Amino acid sequence: MGDHRDQLPADVHPVIRVLPMPHDTNAAGDIFGGWLMSQVDIAGSIVALRRAGGRVVTVAVNEFVFIKPIYVGDLVSLYAEIVKIGTTSIQIEVTAFAERGRHDGASERVAQAKLTYVAIDQDRKPRSVNKPTT
Ligand SMILES: CC(C)(COP(=O)(O)OP(=O)(O)OC[C@H]1O[C@@H](n2cnc3c(N)ncnc32)[C@H](O)[C@@H]1OP(=O)(O)O)[C@@H](O)C(=O)NCCC(=O)NCCS
Repeated sequence: MGDHRDQLPADVHPVIRVLPMPHDTNAAGDIFGGWLMSQVDIAGSIVALRRAGGRVVTVAVNEFVFIKPIYVGDLVSLYAEIVKIGTTSIQIEVTAFAERGRHDGASERVAQAKLTYVAIDQDRKPRSVNKPTT
């Protein structure tokens, strides 16, 4: 998923599909970057918590590139995959695509990000990602 293609991946399901609303816009009328960052974090965390078998927290946004704008009426699809597994951390790459209004499958890649999540226990301390929550 780390290439520069614009087509929605045919063989993978998105973690999230979401329609941004007018209240998600910035002062210029495009979708606010913070809205997209939030969706990316949610998508990445879902993949991380499944792999970790329990609660995770975001420790770092390692990379975040806004490639093209998102507009009201676009359908945004977020794909996420594990790129690195450490002792207590999992790094996830998230790619966001926008279908421009027509929703006919034609899309553009609008953002690419890498985030690191840490599995935590009941005391909020890092725990091995290879052991489920006790
Ligand atoms: C995440 C947290 C539990 C880590 O606690 P810590 O005592 O610093 O843990 P460690 O130093 O042992 O690091 C834990 C793992 O995170 C990784 N890590 C820590 N800082 C990192 C960074 N800036 N970038 C990437 N990875 C990082 C470490 O490499 C380690 O990974 P590994 O075990 O796979 O080798 C703690 O920093 C925390 O609670 N942060 C706030 C999380 C939060 O609230 N997130 C939401 C923000 S809105």
